[in-house]
Amino acid sequence: MSSELFKKYDVQAPRYTSYPTVPYWSETPSWEQWTQAIKAGLGPTDAGWSIYMHIPFCETLCSFCGCNTVITKSHKKEHPYVERLLKEWQIYKSAVAEFGSRPMRQLHLGGGTPTFLSADNLKALLEPVLSSVSLENGEFEGSIEVDPRRTNREQLQALYDMGFRRVSLGVQDFNVEVQRLINRIQTFEENKSITEMAREIGYTSVNFDLIYGLPQQTPERMQITLEKTLELRPDRVAFYSLAVVPWIKPAQRLFKIEDLPQGEDKYHLYEMGREVFLEAGYEDIGLDHFALSDEKLAVARAQSKLHRNFMGYTEHRTEVLLGLGVSAISEAPTCFHQNKKELPVYEREIDGGSVPTLRGHLLSEEDLAVREQILQFMTRAEVDLESQVDFTVLQERLAPMVADGLVRFEGNRMIQTQKGLPFLRNSAMALDKRLLAKSPDQSMFSKSL
Ligand SMILES: C[S@@+](CC[C@H](N)C(=O)[O-])C[C@H]1O[C@@H](n2cnc3c(N)ncnc32)[C@H](O)[C@@H]1O
Ligand code: SF4
Repeated sequence: MSSELFKKYDVQAPRYTSYPTVPYWSETPSWEQWTQAIKAGLGPTDAGWSIYMHIPFCETLCSFCGCNTVITKSHKKEHPYVERLLKEWQIYKSAVAEFGSRPMRQLHLGGGTPTFLSADNLKALLEPVLSSVSLENGEFEGSIEVDPRRTNREQLQALYDMGFRRVSLGVQDFNVEVQRLINRIQTFEENKSITEMAREIGYTSVNFDLIYGLPQQTPERMQITLEKTLELRPDRVAFYSLAVVPWIKPAQRLFKIEDLPQGEDKYHLYEMGREVFLEAGYEDIGLDHFALSDEKLAVARAQSKLHRNFMGYTEHRTEVLLGLGVSAISEAPTCFHQNKKELPVYEREIDGGSVPTLRGHLLSEEDLAVREQILQFMTRAEVDLESQVDFTVLQERLAPMVADGLVRFEGNRMIQTQKGLPFLRNSAMALDKRLLAKSPDQSMFSKSL
């Protein structure tokens, strides 16, 4: 890609795991409005619902990390936190009876580091939840994010026995010097051993999280990281662009700016990865994700069934995603909700019997229409735009991208070209009415590339 194109499109851009994006949420719902929105979402369809549980704990801080974490070596914190999650679940279950009758289809454990919890505590958390929901044919799609440095066979076996079949390993990079600079030394053997262990136990999908744009990541080092990744052949790869957000995550200030691959150099690392994955039989799923062509995510994409929510790309669309735990985000068809982010505050409010709302958003009619458009665009790289859109204005807005061969229009259809795929979020911004009405007053999003 020419450096001009690169300069033009490397701008701050949302990742569109929701619309409106979190900085544009305005009307925080009351508890009644929120639970009504969930009931309405669960009522009319059998699309079912999903659970996300946030486990914030990590034993050490990786300096690049953008997640909501609590750094501690004290495993005494496990049990009280599990109890709070169960209590939060009870509060929801009492308020929304439909959670017991509509099918729960997906359960994802994220963090932080969910494998901070021992096998016994994972069981203490999940068994009561699984026995109190309704499952279709006894099945659900269970997935967990694991840190290979802090995961053992007992945990993976316990999760498998409860029905989990997907595991995602935080790998990031295989080079020791890069690892030193991000405060995360993790050997090839650790990654290999957890990958093989998961497969031996019977997990059907292993994902690796890799990041490009880390300090001192050179093309040579990236080449080796990619080769080592292919040696273990994960079913999926999330190849994330390092989100540089030092105004939110001060540990990123530890990076020397000259150590970070920037602009074209950073983009080159992404292109290397994309090329290697496509050659090795992976498909480009959309923003930063690759999957082997027989993997469910790739199949869902081929069948136009791919969905996108706060958990990233998923292969089913469920109308309600219930987020439990500190900072967890939930969604219903007409409303978003986020829990408070500080652990002591979360714990105190749960102990007092209420769900600790930080913020949320009640979607307007216009939000609902734009949300569908952006969702379709982010999952299919094309969207049918009906009457709600002023075509002349949209085409003017996207004229530079059309001229650069990144987007084209066919009748009412806006299509991202193959060349344009890495710029999916730039084009989505042209549909984002809230962003167009008011640009962010400060840095809110990471760069798009
Ligand atoms: C919750 S962590 C995964 C589980 C576990 N904590 C671990 O690190 O192995 C989620 C993933 O987010 C990604 N991530 C975290 N901070 C990021 C950032 N600033 N930019 C891009 N990706 C980031 C990492 O790839 C990480 O594996
Ligand atoms: S990358 Fe994972 S292990 Fe590292 S601090 Fe973030 S959540 Fe914790």
